[in-house]
Amino acid sequence: MKRSLFVILALLMVVSMVLAGAQCPAPPEPTTAPQPTTAPTTAPTKPKPTEPPKPTTPPEEKVTIRLLSGAVGQELELAKESAKRYMDAHPNVTIEVFDTPDAVQDRLGVYLQYFETKSSEADIYQIDVIWPGDLAEHLVDLNKYGADKVAGEHFKAIIENNTVDGKLVGIPWFTDAGLLFYRTDLLKEYGYSAPPKTWDELETMAKKIQDGERAKGNADFWGFVWQGNSYEGLTCDALEWVYANGGGTIISPDKKVTINNDKAIAAVSKAAGWVGTISPKGVTGYQEEDARKQWQAGNAAFMRNWPYAYSLGQKDDSAVKDKFDVAALPFGDSGHGAATLGGWQLAVSKYSKHPDVAADVALFMTSKAEQKTRAIKGSFNPTIKSLYQDADVCKASPFMCKLYDVFINAVARPSTATAPKYNEVSTLFFKAVHSVLTGSADAKSALEELELDLEDLTGFKAGTQ
Ligand code: GLC
Repeated sequence: MKRSLFVILALLMVVSMVLAGAQCPAPPEPTTAPQPTTAPTTAPTKPKPTEPPKPTTPPEEKVTIRLLSGAVGQELELAKESAKRYMDAHPNVTIEVFDTPDAVQDRLGVYLQYFETKSSEADIYQIDVIWPGDLAEHLVDLNKYGADKVAGEHFKAIIENNTVDGKLVGIPWFTDAGLLFYRTDLLKEYGYSAPPKTWDELETMAKKIQDGERAKGNADFWGFVWQGNSYEGLTCDALEWVYANGGGTIISPDKKVTINNDKAIAAVSKAAGWVGTISPKGVTGYQEEDARKQWQAGNAAFMRNWPYAYSLGQKDDSAVKDKFDVAALPFGDSGHGAATLGGWQLAVSKYSKHPDVAADVALFMTSKAEQKTRAIKGSFNPTIKSLYQDADVCKASPFMCKLYDVFINAVARPSTATAPKYNEVSTLFFKAVHSVLTGSADAKSALEELELDLEDLTGFKAGTQ
């Protein structure tokens, strides 16, 4: 957990222990926090807001809402700015925005600590697109708080993803898809007129540019940087290699374990071949921000990353400002490319003391006006379709409009089929892939073993896609 969140939560616990202790000796927070144990079954008694983003019915008493936010790149800063706009319009509401760990499964660990103790300390959670199934039991149905009126503006597939047993457990905030960032200046210099169409082409181009830049004296220059650490980000990268090669989605939507196949084995072996050749050996410890920093310092020809890296790369302090563009990831043997579907939603905890206000804040922060601001300032992809035709959005982040098809065709991780065990499925997958990348196993035996482990974990049978 990041130190700042730790410190603030520790302080909060101490304060609540002191307050609780003043009346009766009780065990410390969060276990003693007032605990709504079931989701509200009726609409809140206060009149509901009709039209986000300007709710017409601010709460009468002072309320504090705590939001657990991501902090990758500009995430935290933009979340705080958005919260401030809400507070300016609702003087009775204070929103405290906390940062959480960058690595997705560490963030999930923090959230589970709150949920398992039914803690009311946090009201709104920024949840990953892979988590609705795993976390639904702890979240309110946002349709009961007005989300049903705006759900139609969002991409249908994401609303469906976030709907568990008929409950909308997260309102989409931004969507993600894996992209190829490439240096336009270097491609030109080395005689290439377009980004690579296939992974084979990427290897050739990356090697040529890397050799040339090293010869010019930049010993830190690498051809291709990506996310190779043993964490959820590797599941995303590896799913792209495997799916583009025709090797399926680890577990199919109809619940078969499909990962142990020749195409998946070939794709993972190929990626292992990049480590130490066109990618630094240290890539097996890289997360999004490690790749971005290397790229943004001007030390890579290609990078696989999410949209957020675009606006940071275009800032004045970036060595690659105006020297790069973004394309779809290369094709594998299947004759198509693949971008993993990512993205984040705002969800309201069932244990919140103010679910109505929290839901109102979530609806405001995910509204069209707020998503537009985030798309322009932070290149966070909207989940509201009409913003992809918005001239200001297309001007600030041209790739969003140009690569619209990539975003709507992104391939989902098998989180729906495996809920509530997706996190364990993914952990087995990224560990197996990581062992191949670091050379401690070969792809064939790693995926064979993975198949058995996944069968044991899920109870599903191995099969073809
Ligand atoms: C991005 C994606 C998210 C994914 C994560 C992996 O934040 O939006 O869906 O799980 O990266 O690191």
